[in-house]
Amino acid sequence: MAEAGREKFLKRRHMIFAAIGSAVGLGNVWRFPYMCYEYGGAAFLVAYIIGLFAIGIPWLLTEFGMGHYFQKGAPGVFRSIGKKWEWVGWFPSISAFLIDTYYCVIMAWTIIYMFSSMTLAWGAGEAGAHQAGDYFFKTVLNLSESPGELGGLQWPIVGALAFTWIIIYFVIYRGAEIVGKVSEVVMVLAWVLIIAILIRSLTLPGAVDGLNYYLDIDWSVLKGADVWFAAFSQIAFSLSVGMAGMYAYGRFIARKGDITNNTMITAFCDSGFAFLTGFAVFSTVGYIMQALGVSLQDVTIAGIGLAFVTYPVGISLMPALNRLTGVLFFIMFWIIGLSSAYYLAYAGYIVPMIDKFGWQRKKVAFWGCLVGFLVGLIYCTQGGLYWLDIVDRTVAFYTLLIGGAIASLVVGWVFGADKLREHVNATSDIKVGPWLDFLIKVVVPAGLLFVVVYGGFMQDL
Ligand code: PHE
Ligand code: NA
Repeated sequence: MAEAGREKFLKRRHMIFAAIGSAVGLGNVWRFPYMCYEYGGAAFLVAYIIGLFAIGIPWLLTEFGMGHYFQKGAPGVFRSIGKKWEWVGWFPSISAFLIDTYYCVIMAWTIIYMFSSMTLAWGAGEAGAHQAGDYFFKTVLNLSESPGELGGLQWPIVGALAFTWIIIYFVIYRGAEIVGKVSEVVMVLAWVLIIAILIRSLTLPGAVDGLNYYLDIDWSVLKGADVWFAAFSQIAFSLSVGMAGMYAYGRFIARKGDITNNTMITAFCDSGFAFLTGFAVFSTVGYIMQALGVSLQDVTIAGIGLAFVTYPVGISLMPALNRLTGVLFFIMFWIIGLSSAYYLAYAGYIVPMIDKFGWQRKKVAFWGCLVGFLVGLIYCTQGGLYWLDIVDRTVAFYTLLIGGAIASLVVGWVFGADKLREHVNATSDIKVGPWLDFLIKVVVPAGLLFVVVYGGFMQDL
C-alpha cells in the first residue's frame, strides 16, 4: 500500500476503528446467535469465554504482533521466518477467499431485508411475527424441496450480491482510510440500534424462556468436544484471526503503538457486541416459542437462518417506528458486514497476491472481486442455504482452526514466542509475562488441534 495511505492509518483512532470494524461483523449478529443456539446456549457461552482468553486473545496478539514486527501481511511474515514456511501464510488467504464468497451472500440477504423492511413485507405486529419464518425461507430463499438440490437462481439475491461486490471493489480502489472513517460512524450507529432492538426484545412476553436457554448452564454439555469446536471456530471467525487480515492491520499500528491494548479493545468490543445480540436474539426466540406455542426444539426457524427470522420478529413488534428501525437495522447489518468483507478480500487474498506476483493492484482487485462474486452464485440458488452451511462448517471450523494451530506452532517454536513477547512489550504499556509464550507455543495449537480431532473428525466419521 502507498506510504500516504499508511500514514493516515497511523492515527491510532482510525487503526483501532478499522480493526474493530473488521472484527465486528455478520459473525456477531448472524453467526454467534445460531452457533450459540445449536451448541447448548449457555454452555457454548462458557466455552466461548474460556476460549477467548486462552486462545482468541493470544492468537490475535500474535497476528498483530507479527504483522507489526515484520511490517508485512501473512505470507510475507511467514516467508520472513523462513522460505519453507511461506505456505503457512497462504492458508489464511484460502480461508479468507472461501469465507468471503458466502459472507457477501449474507450481506445480500440484508439488502433484500432493507427493502422488505420499508413495507414490513412479512407483516406487522403479531401476524408479521408469525410470518417471518415463511418469509425468509419461502419468499426470499425459495428453498428447494430436497436439501442441496440447486434449483434456480434467486435473482434479487444475485442483484444484491453484485451490488455488494461492486462496492467492495470500489472501497479497495479508494483505499483503506475510507473504511476506517466509515467504521467509526457505523460502529456508533450499530451500538445504538442493537440496544434499541435489545430493549424491545427483552420486554416481549416469553423473553424469559429464551433467556433461560441463553444463560442457564447445563454443565454436561461441556463434556462434549463439539461445543468447544464450535466455540473456537466462532472465536476465530469473530475476531477475524486465521484469515490474514489482522497481520496486515498489525502493520498499521504505529511504531510505538500499543499492541496489547489494541488487542484487548478489539477483542472486548467484538465479544461485547456478540453477547448483546445474543440477548436480543434469545429473548425473541423465547417470544416465538410462547406465541406459537412450541418448544425450543420445535423452533424450526432455528439454525443458520435464525437471525433473519428473529430480528424481523422483533422489528414487527416494535410499538412505533418499526419500519424505520428495520431499515436502519439492516443498513447497519450490511455496513458492519462491508468493513469485514472488504478486509477479507483485500487483506485476505488481494494484497498477498499483489505482493507475491507483483501484479497490478487494479487488475487483481477486479478479478478477485469478480471470481468471489461468481463463486458466490452457488449460494444464490434455491439450495444455496444448504451449501452455505456446509462450506461455513468446513472452512470456518476446519481450515481456519488447523491453519491457526500451524501458524501458532511456527511463530511459537520457529520464530520464538519470547521474541514476539519482547517486541510486543517494547511497544506496549501493559507488559505481558512469560505465560504468553506458553499460550502461544502450547495452549493455542494444542487446544485448536484437540477440538478439530475430537469435536470434528471423530464425530464426523
Ligand atoms: N470478524 C468478522 C465477523 O465477525 C468476519 C471477518 C473475518 C472479517 C476475517 C474480516 C476478516 O463477521
Ligand atoms: Na466478529
